[in-house]
Order: sequence, then C-alpha cells, then structure tokens
Amino acid sequence: SANHSPKGQQQTATYDSAFLKACRREPVPHTPVWFMRQAGRSLPEYRKVREGIAMLDSCMRPELVTEITLQPVRRHNVDAAIYFSDIVVPLKAMGIDLDIKPGVGPVVAHPIRTRADLAQLRDLEPGDVPYVTEAIGTLVRELGTTPLIGFAGAPFTLASYLVEGGPSRNHERTKALMYGDPRLWADLLDRLAEITAAFLKVQIEAGASAVQLFDSWVGALAPADYRRSVMPASTKVFDAVASYGVPRIHFGVGTGELLGLMGEAGADVVGVDWRVPLDEAARRVGPGRALQGNLDPAVLFAPREAVEAKAREVLDAAAGLEGHVFNLGHGVLPHTDPDSLTRLVEYVHQQTAR
Ligand code: CP3
Repeated sequence: SANHSPKGQQQTATYDSAFLKACRREPVPHTPVWFMRQAGRSLPEYRKVREGIAMLDSCMRPELVTEITLQPVRRHNVDAAIYFSDIVVPLKAMGIDLDIKPGVGPVVAHPIRTRADLAQLRDLEPGDVPYVTEAIGTLVRELGTTPLIGFAGAPFTLASYLVEGGPSRNHERTKALMYGDPRLWADLLDRLAEITAAFLKVQIEAGASAVQLFDSWVGALAPADYRRSVMPASTKVFDAVASYGVPRIHFGVGTGELLGLMGEAGADVVGVDWRVPLDEAARRVGPGRALQGNLDPAVLFAPREAVEAKAREVLDAAAGLEGHVFNLGHGVLPHTDPDSLTRLVEYVHQQTAR
C-alpha cells in the first residue's frame, strides 16, 4: 500500500516528528525548537544568496526559496522548517502594487480606504502562485522527516498594511476604518480571510505539515474590539483549513490579553511572546491547545550563560504543559549571532531529552 512506499514512510516519520507530536499534545522525545524568521538576515549564507535580488523577487524563485528555507535547518538542527516567503506575497500575486522596502517593510502604492478600493482584492487561485507549489514540492522531498511549516498573514495584520499603506506604530487609519465604517471593515477582513485561506490551502496541498497564521500587530486591540471586529475573519481562516488535520498555529505580539480569544478562534497551538510566562499563558488559553514560545529574541545578544538561564526559565514555566514548541517570542533579530541560535537548539534538546 501507499504507506509502505518510500514516500509513505517519509510521511509517517514526519507525522511522528517531535514538532508535530508537540502540536498534537502527544509525548515527545525532546521539546521541539524552531525560530520565527530563522531564515534571513542573521545568516551570512542567506545574505550571500540574496545579494542583488529584491525580497519579493526572491520569494518567486523556487530554487532560491528552497535553498533559503533549508539553510537554518542545516545550520541549527531545528525541528521544523518554515517556508521562505512573506505575508504580502499573496497580495502581490493578485496584482496589488506593493513592494518590500529594505529596513522599512511592506509599502502599498494605493492604500485601501474606500469601498471602491476593495476591488483590488480578487480571489487567489493556485495558478497565481505556481512557485509556491513548486518550491514546497521540492522542499518536502529534501527535508526528509523534518516538517515544513506554511504560513500566512492574518486578516487584521494584512489590513493594517493595506489601509496604512505601510508599517505603522499606532494603526490610526486602520482603527479609524474599523470604528468608523464597520460594514466596510467587515467586508475587507472577510475578503482577506478568503485570500489567506486560499493561500494556506495551496501550501497544505503542496505538502506543508503545519500552518502558522501571523497576526503580528493585533496586540494593538482591546479584547472586545478583537472579538467583534477581527475574530470572525481569523476564525473563518482556521475553519477553512480544519479538514486537512494539520496543526494550526496562531501568533501575535503583545497579545497577552487576547490569548484566550486567539485560541478560541480555532488554533491548535497558540504562540506567546515573552511578556507572559507560559504557565500563565496556559491558564489564559485553557486546556486542549499547545503553546509555542517564548524567549525574548533580544536575550540572544547576552552571553551564553545568560541565554541558557533565560531558556531554562521558559522550560520551567512550560514544564506542566501538555504540548510545548520552543520558539522565540518574536522573530530572530537581524544582527543575532547565528552560533547563539545553534547553541540554544542544542541546549533545549539536551535539557529536555527523555
Ligand atoms: O524564516 C521565516 O520566518 C520565514 C520568512 C518570513 C519573512 N517574513 C521573510 C522576510 C516570514 C515568516 C515573514 C512574515 C512577516 N512579514 C511578518 C510576520 C512575522 C513578524 O515578524 O511579525 C510580517 C509583519 C512581515 C512584513 C515584513 N516583511 C516586515 C516587517 C519586514 C522587515 C523589513 C525590514 O527590512 O526590516 C519584511 C521583509 C522581510 N520578510 C525580510 C525577510 C527575511 C527582510 C528583507 C530582506 O532580507 O531583504
């Protein structure tokens, strides 16, 4: 049968990996580790292959995407790979005029602020992102038993870039639309939920073993506003991919007050930043969901002993959890010493070996 073929054996071994077991809250041989933004500027081999190639162009070249995704797996011995792309790639793929400016972030030429502007957002078809399907196919073969995480930006965080026209500290135009024209806001988030769901489906169907929804900036909202104005769209995304049975991870920054709701939205794993210890996060999230996190990425700039002491604190807070995936509380900072990441993976594996 298919399960005895080499491909079937690989799929079974991937299913039984520490990362996917932790996501399912099953016993693990060691606490699995991966890092948000593990592929990227902290690695000299990344800077080398990216030389002279714009960020969004690199996301559309399957052989480059494959190489960059594999780099941190080779170097750090992490328990999962994350597909190299960006949250704005599906928007670019449907023809929205945007770019990623180095040192700034995504910049949108014609921000979405009126009902007429919504016409920029059409349905995403798999044919819009052939490079994603191609790169994931290659990656799944090359990764062997290491799971691949697909990802997308959540409706709120995507809306923030689209409405502001670029990165924003206070999200004032986004909130003005959310509070001032709730109908238009709901329609915008619903469109983005459909696009995001379609983009995650492409990645799962190509072979991604888990997906993470990045709602990086949703911590700007109070719980009542999150529940009313954002949660329905994020729930729609999670519901749309539920039937695949792959773990769904939900992450945001500064979301201490939202953790319960972010779990309820439909996550199997809730990502936590460094502001809330994992035992307290578990009380807020409640039973039935694993947690991911939550070492402050800035800690990696401290000496090794300090990094290990802080990592030990994370492991101690996670000791009573049913499922824990070790990660940073946000992405790897660009000037991080990659050796400190390699040592951290080794430390967590050694401390938690059972
Ligand atoms: O290793 C991985 O995690 C996969 C790659 C990845 C990138 N972006 C590559 C990237 C992932 C998961 C993202 C998601 C992403 N993109 C998020 C959510 C995660 C988070 O950090 O909260 C957000 C908010 C974005 C939008 C975005 N794209 C920003 C804010 C920036 C940084 C701009 C800058 O130069 O400081 C980007 C660009 C980007 N995305 C880079 C990388 C490696 C840097 C550009 C480069 O290397 O030239």
